Amino acid sequence: MKRVFSGVQPTGNIHIGNYLGALRQFVELQNDNECIYCIVDMHSITLPQDPKELRKHTLDVAALYMAIGLDPKKSTIFVQSDVPGHAELSWVLTCNSYTGELSRMTQFKDKSKGRESAPTGLFSYPILMAADILLYDTDIVPVGRDQKQHIELCRDLAIRINNKYGQTFVVPDGRFLKEGARIMSLDEPMKKMSKSAENPLSRISLLDEEGKIKKAIMKATTDSEGIIKFDLENKPGVSNLMNIYSSFSGISVEDIEKKYEGCGYGDFKKDLVQVTSEALRPIRENFEQIRHSQELLNVLNEGAEKANAIAEKTMARVKETFGLGISKK
Ligand code: TYM
Repeated sequence: MKRVFSGVQPTGNIHIGNYLGALRQFVELQNDNECIYCIVDMHSITLPQDPKELRKHTLDVAALYMAIGLDPKKSTIFVQSDVPGHAELSWVLTCNSYTGELSRMTQFKDKSKGRESAPTGLFSYPILMAADILLYDTDIVPVGRDQKQHIELCRDLAIRINNKYGQTFVVPDGRFLKEGARIMSLDEPMKKMSKSAENPLSRISLLDEEGKIKKAIMKATTDSEGIIKFDLENKPGVSNLMNIYSSFSGISVEDIEKKYEGCGYGDFKKDLVQVTSEALRPIRENFEQIRHSQELLNVLNEGAEKANAIAEKTMARVKETFGLGISKK
């Protein structure tokens, strides 16, 4: 069995981009692999968070994990800050990384744009992500396309340390889907759909009701051509909507083109509202049942225990590799 690890930041507004790019892979992989899924709250504090809101969002993401179909009997679900190994390993990796490689991360460049001095956590964010992955001897990391550069850095760090100190880490592979790996913003289809974009109609959150879904899709930016055709370069808005349609329905973009030949955007968008609403309804209903249950807290407690057991073994190995620590518990 391969080991799978991934994580989502609890910063609110988990949207269909997160779902179609990453979360639905989590569910798909849990039957044939050993899966570990984390709510990465320590990543969220790279930018200031309201403490009460952060806890709320952490539980929201945990409940969403279960609402989309993650089964705690098959997958370990836990909160990053409940396992001290993440921060510990992050420091060891920090000492084996270079400011040059971190400065090249496009996400850092985007998030620090216009600031005279950026928060250090934002800069070293990809190292904490590498620690998350390497702590569990991960083989596969299901993520959206925007995380590709971070996964490459993680691989580089693992290979560098293995070469210098001897075999210490498993070198992981990213797993990216063809459709859904990069869902774009509905109002500005050249930008990726994002949790933090100001316009709420730029995204569809997983818990949005049909009314909001309809509004966002019907208002989504297209073009004046009126032809349903997949062409990312010249028709980014329509292509993005086709990607969403394809990801939710399982119908290929080629078949969507055929199905809507001669139809206008209005008809296509109406059907997309239906396809999206139907896919999200059960998630919303499951979420309501799970969110305030004792079961959710039990799952997170048990998940942290299981994750800690693996993390402690890896950290013992890492300490051995680097000659760290004396006392044995
Ligand atoms: P985060 O919380 O921004 O996003 C969670 C997952 O959703 C994917 N994603 C998208 N996929 C397609 N289209 C989009 N518009 C879109 N927006 C986001 C992301 O690629 C991600 O898979 N750094 C990570 C969290 C993380 C992590 C990890 C992931 C921390 N440690 C270890 C994997 C392994 C992040 O900020 O994801």
